[in-house]
Amino acid sequence: MSHQTVIVLDFGGQYNQLIARRVRECGVYCEVKPYTTPLEQLKAMEPIGFIFTGGPNSVYDEKAPHVDPAIFELGVPVLGICYGCQLMAHTLGGQVTAAQEDTAREYGKTETYYDTTCKLFKGLPQQGISWMSHGDYMAKVPEGFALTAHTDACPNVAIADEKRGFYGVQYHPEVNHTQHGVDMIRNFLYEVCGATGDWTMGDYKNTAIRDIREKVGDGKVLLALSGGVDSSVAAALLAEAVGKQLTCVFVDHGLMRKNEGDEVEAAFARWDINFVRVDAEARFLLKLAGEAEPERKRKIIGEEFIRVFEEEAKKIGRVDYLVQGTIYPDVIESGAGDAAVIKSHHNVGGLPDYVDFKEIIEPLRLLFKDEVRQLGRELGLPKYLVMRQPFPGPGLAIRVIGDLTKEKLDTLRDADAIYREEIAAAGEDKNINQYFAVLTNTRSVGVMGDGRTYDYTLALRAVTTSDFMTADWARIPYDVLDRISTRIVNEVKGINRIVYDITSKPPATIEWE
Ligand code: XMP
Repeated sequence: MSHQTVIVLDFGGQYNQLIARRVRECGVYCEVKPYTTPLEQLKAMEPIGFIFTGGPNSVYDEKAPHVDPAIFELGVPVLGICYGCQLMAHTLGGQVTAAQEDTAREYGKTETYYDTTCKLFKGLPQQGISWMSHGDYMAKVPEGFALTAHTDACPNVAIADEKRGFYGVQYHPEVNHTQHGVDMIRNFLYEVCGATGDWTMGDYKNTAIRDIREKVGDGKVLLALSGGVDSSVAAALLAEAVGKQLTCVFVDHGLMRKNEGDEVEAAFARWDINFVRVDAEARFLLKLAGEAEPERKRKIIGEEFIRVFEEEAKKIGRVDYLVQGTIYPDVIESGAGDAAVIKSHHNVGGLPDYVDFKEIIEPLRLLFKDEVRQLGRELGLPKYLVMRQPFPGPGLAIRVIGDLTKEKLDTLRDADAIYREEIAAAGEDKNINQYFAVLTNTRSVGVMGDGRTYDYTLALRAVTTSDFMTADWARIPYDVLDRISTRIVNEVKGINRIVYDITSKPPATIEWE
């Protein structure tokens, strides 16, 4: 099984995996390699193209990373991005200098003009926004190169030596802010490198399964299944790879949405694995009884989860590998330093301190969320599971405001199910990134039939967001809100008033607790 391969040569930029992801998106296999990889090793991979990434350095820094100039003699096309572009220019005899203040130094969205006779821009508009982030400037381009894009401030934003297949761009085509950026990468792959698009998520799956089998051998594998997309896809992958050697422990804490526990169990029925569903609802509710403070609730759930998981793990005995559903954005976020703790996020899944094992396996570590979903579909997981919206580890416990009872949780489950059903029926689920109901601890007077009611207020939350760090409240049409409200107050006992949350994040958070 051999594919055309593109090598993303990593110079320490922040978007390296994003570049790799774009190449995969274009149907081409790619690997990210550190710039220190010996040329012989790179050559042995028989790449059809190289992409040099950005990086934090200036090419003229003493410690700036370099490449073996012989890489340009291999007859393999190169696309240099930002630092990668400057490095190529520098290595091939051009001149790179620090931009003078306010001249060619550029950051952020910049109107850019492209020469569409250049293969990189073939078939694309002559003008568009590109995302710049560079303080250096190519004062002199190397021999054989032409200028192929410019901005108002900078004459040489893109360079090309089409004969040798060398292209360089000062901006970042891999980020969404650059209009048609992915098309430029696609042009490089297909028009310049001669890619045929011989790579699919199915291939990724097969390679991942082969790698897992090789690593695990006849070892025992343990996985904490939360029912979320990431742990479910990781579980399916391991199930496919090692079958009976895998034990999935699914701690049902009783804080899940309506029917969710059964759905998760059903999704895994097709694999012959050890599937342990622990019905721990009573334990969790007992521990949470009378606790109204959000952070305490989160802590109790986190601790209890570990306890239950630990007990189950002990029953299994020796474990060699612990699987975690870490995905690439988690890798970035956890490296993000010490930002203030707004909420102690608890991700049901990572428990390395409490279980004795040899090694952690993170099979999704290099994938982005939508790729994880795609892989899940490839593995045969049902759509409702892989397309599931984010759901917090502490579950509905942080969506029932104040202290919890089983009755309140059931009320919320019923109301939330109606909300989700109506949003999906109206087709609004495609426009909204996360939506759920919150049972507040406010009661108010109402009238139903001829009688007075004194029941709970339910809040509806719906947001649009790309990264969940900031979010805007979703503009759900009034008639849809009306249908939801009418159905919930009529069908769910204990709720007589519905409000819609119209706060963005910040200043609010997405969840209420
Ligand atoms: P907030 O409320 O912080 O939520 O704006 C941002 C996103 O994170 C989810 N969330 C959690 N996810 N464990 C999780 O795995 C948690 O404890 C947790 N708390 C919030 C929330 O649903 C939203 O998608």
